[in-house]
Amino acid sequence: MKKIIDVISAEVMSAFEKKGYDANYGKVTLSNRPDLCEYQCNGALAAAKVYKKAPFMISDEVAEELKSNSMFESVESVKPGFLNIILSGEFVKNYITDMENDEKYGVEDVADKRTVMLDFGGPNVAKPLHVGHLRSAIIGESVKRILRYKGDNVIGDVHLGDWGLQMGLIITELKLRKPELVYFDDSYTGEYPTEAPFTIAELEEIYPTASAKSKEDPEYKDAALKATVEVQKGKPGYRALLGHILNVSVTDLKKNYENLNVSFDLWKGESDADPYIPEMVEMMKRDGFAYESDGALVVDVKEESDTKEIPPCMILKSDGAALYDTTDLATLVWRERDYKPSEVIYVVDKRQELHFIQVFRCAKKTGIVNKDTKLTFLGFGTMNGKDGKPFKTREGGVMRLEHLLASINEEMLKKISENNTMGEEEAKATSKTVALAAIKYGDLSNQASKDYIFDIDRFTSFEGNTGPYILYTIVRIKSILSKYAANGGKIEKGALLAPKTDSEKELMLALTKYAPAIDVAYSELAPHKICAYIYELSNAFNHFYHETKIMGEEDKARQSSYIALLELTRGVLEQCIDLLGFEAPERM
Ligand code: ARG
Repeated sequence: MKKIIDVISAEVMSAFEKKGYDANYGKVTLSNRPDLCEYQCNGALAAAKVYKKAPFMISDEVAEELKSNSMFESVESVKPGFLNIILSGEFVKNYITDMENDEKYGVEDVADKRTVMLDFGGPNVAKPLHVGHLRSAIIGESVKRILRYKGDNVIGDVHLGDWGLQMGLIITELKLRKPELVYFDDSYTGEYPTEAPFTIAELEEIYPTASAKSKEDPEYKDAALKATVEVQKGKPGYRALLGHILNVSVTDLKKNYENLNVSFDLWKGESDADPYIPEMVEMMKRDGFAYESDGALVVDVKEESDTKEIPPCMILKSDGAALYDTTDLATLVWRERDYKPSEVIYVVDKRQELHFIQVFRCAKKTGIVNKDTKLTFLGFGTMNGKDGKPFKTREGGVMRLEHLLASINEEMLKKISENNTMGEEEAKATSKTVALAAIKYGDLSNQASKDYIFDIDRFTSFEGNTGPYILYTIVRIKSILSKYAANGGKIEKGALLAPKTDSEKELMLALTKYAPAIDVAYSELAPHKICAYIYELSNAFNHFYHETKIMGEEDKARQSSYIALLELTRGVLEQCIDLLGFEAPERM
């Protein structure tokens, strides 16, 4: 389906042409004076220079040409040469009737459907998920859904952090506590046990303990570094332990992501890049890209146009250990080989931007990815507390995601139980749904790259630009629709009538902006554009709702038209929140 703005433009363009002017002057834009008109065209001002005429004469001629066009209620020529356009109710109604009949309400698939690899989540194995990982999960999930909705084939990969020092730390601590385990017996040649020698709770305690110790005790740190190299080099007992750490962690992570309604197609990690490292390093040396610098192997990635220093990419440390650069590069090797993606998008904290500049340049330079493979860094800002500093627990520690979610669920449960008579089960389930919407919308409504303040009170409010407000609007619509159905009414397509009131027309106009909103969100990887859109649509709906007697309407045809309008609004809103990664309850 053509966008409404293109339909209008085509009409105004042909009027310019009929009057002897280049059609391109007839492009319309949304009005920047909504108090005066709905759309506008400023083309006469530019045309005046070329045709050496007063702009007002041109706009007058075009307005005259469009006077009897049924698409418009009015096209007014105003000085110095603007065209102020108001659409006819009949045209708007016809347009949204087409939307109603379209499976995706007018949103079209991209012409060329691509394969996109989406790297998001990025949790670190054996460390509990913390709020820093929340943003990657929330933004990435929404981007995934938006790209898929437009027709791309998206592969979401969690890219576990499982190849770093934390592995060495855990192994070192474990060896200290349970030296008798077979994993530490170098002469052992049998099969290793399938049962992990720790639980998730133990694992989560071991890591911070080890990390703290290593900061104080250089010997301990050395042992951890050594164990890291050994596990990377493939020491059998350590690899077996790595397997256990991964299994135990991933089971727990999956549960956590499920609670967030976030999912991944691939559960690969840094360690999966390991087999590709030797060959990649060989290639980089052979082709003259990599050289030794202070014992380490590096690849230069600076470019002449750089305004700041871009240090070389670090391929191997002097002890032969792989680094963050190494695993990201080698990961691109298998991503390219197995998926040939047109684009790889990384949803990661924007403080890691330099790392990605280095990796992207190195991957292109060394030919790991094709020249035309798009590598995109979608860097997000920090989630801050009310004090403007990175979000912490009351005691000043790192806030665990589980605890954050639990506290918001509790807050929501209080609110919902105060206002409702629903049973305990339903109240609990409902508050979980609403709490998740509060968190996700609170995050996604900000441009991703910006820092934002995580303000539970504001996010959970039922008023203002919040998730619960959007859900409340949807629930309100659903409740009218079900009342109508309970009274024997049928929700039918094709029942729409031209709007009678301003608020009704405004709601219809808001609906016509659906496809444009989705398209910008897609091309800019910007879920916040969808948030802004549904806030506008919800406001338009609530305004209409307060001004209109829907259930009390006596004209049955008018009432069915209202109902059709409600059904379309519900459909669009629910589709949008699905793209954001949350859903609405039946009541709240
Ligand atoms: N594990 C990393 C972290 O917690 C994020 C991984 C991002 N993805 C990537 N391909 N490097 O900071």
